[in-house]
Amino acid sequence: MPSSKPVAVVTGAAHGIGRAIALSLGRSGFSVGVLDLDENGAGATAAELCRAGADAVGVHCDVRSAASVRSALDAVRSAYGRLDSAVNNAGLGTKAVDLADLTEQDWDLVLDVDLRGVYLSMKYELPHLLETPDAIGSIVNIASAVGLTGSADNSPAYVAAKHGVVGLTKSAALQYATRGIRVNAVCPGVIDTPGLQRRLVRTGPEDARQLQNKQAMERMGDPGEVAAAVTWLCGRTATFVTGTAIPVDGGWTAR
Ligand SMILES: NC(=O)c1ccc[n+]([C@@H]2O[C@H](COP(=O)([O-])OP(=O)(O)OC[C@H]3O[C@@H](n4cnc5c(N)ncnc54)[C@H](O)[C@@H]3O)[C@@H](O)[C@H]2O)c1
Repeated sequence: MPSSKPVAVVTGAAHGIGRAIALSLGRSGFSVGVLDLDENGAGATAAELCRAGADAVGVHCDVRSAASVRSALDAVRSAYGRLDSAVNNAGLGTKAVDLADLTEQDWDLVLDVDLRGVYLSMKYELPHLLETPDAIGSIVNIASAVGLTGSADNSPAYVAAKHGVVGLTKSAALQYATRGIRVNAVCPGVIDTPGLQRRLVRTGPEDARQLQNKQAMERMGDPGEVAAAVTWLCGRTATFVTGTAIPVDGGWTAR
């Protein structure tokens, strides 16, 4: 029996921005497929959603693997019978290095998760969205402020991957614009998450100050501030919005 509610999946939803997006979508009336490499973490986010009165299922998913993405999406579809919206958030950074010092291994790791992962997720989400009668039909890819501008303070691999996500988003938006699917990117500035805290443990308080000052607002963002924009794009009111890359960055890219 298909769900009477709209259904969304969020990749990388065990922690950080993805977790905040999953919780926000649940509060907005979506049933949520919580996908993550960290299966226990995915289960914990899903349990939190269920305690708050939403429907949610936690599913293991490694976005680097086509088989894993397909089977996670199939699990959500068989739980709820439909798919309306998909948020491709799973991603990781690596240490900031000059390009000549960037190892092929780090390049491959970051491109594999942050760009190929988004390609595989969209590739296998699209048929589910197209097959769902009256689907909202929204894909949101989480890029970055450094998907819109160069940065000397990040790995060039990360900056390249996030620019790639923006390009992939625009191309897919044009290809599916008349087929009921909107595709947008959200480009966060520096957001206080477990992933960011891991970086700061390595780099210290001076890096934290510099990162904070990248935003015109001179503070880091909260994951919930990104989730609010994503939830709007996933919902039924953003009907004429496609192919955009929306900064949620405290004014970083306005400079
Ligand atoms: N935090 C920031 O300042 C910031 C800024 C701009 C963009 N972003 C982007 O936002 C997204 C989330 O970042 P975050 O800071 O919340 O990170 P995080 O490290 O706090 O959380 C990332 C989540 O993704 C999951 N994940 C990692 N690899 C995966 C894989 N192969 N398959 C499935 N899940 C996987 C992790 O288990 C974790 O739950 C990323 O795409 C990141 O590049 C973050």
